[in-house]
Amino acid sequence: MSHTDPSDFDTGLAPEDLDPARPRTLETPWGAFALFVVEGRILCVQSFCPHLGGPLFQGTVSGAKVACPWHEWVFSLETGQRVDLAGRILGGGAVLARCAVSYSARGTVLLRAPDRRPRV
Ligand code: FES
Repeated sequence: MSHTDPSDFDTGLAPEDLDPARPRTLETPWGAFALFVVEGRILCVQSFCPHLGGPLFQGTVSGAKVACPWHEWVFSLETGQRVDLAGRILGGGAVLARCAVSYSARGTVLLRAPDRRPRV
């Protein structure tokens, strides 16, 4: 977690700035992403749903899953994959873009470039 890549995006936020009850949205060089705090871990996925663009950051979080408030598609915040409520992977190709999270020397949250561009 200490390796810093020059292309990392420094959010300027300390972990204690984040509210587990309220995902934090951010504009990044790769588009809109949101930081979720799940059991003390920070997970970062695209802010808007790949189905029809619903506000995932306003979705219902349960464990490491989020349900979109528009049509209740559920995604794993860990893998980005669309899953059912039991966590089983559903097909269909809807996958969230995710950023790996690390920390700067001053303790702020860094985001690694996402594994894919957000597709909304
Ligand atoms: S826009 Fe998210 S489930 Fe439809």
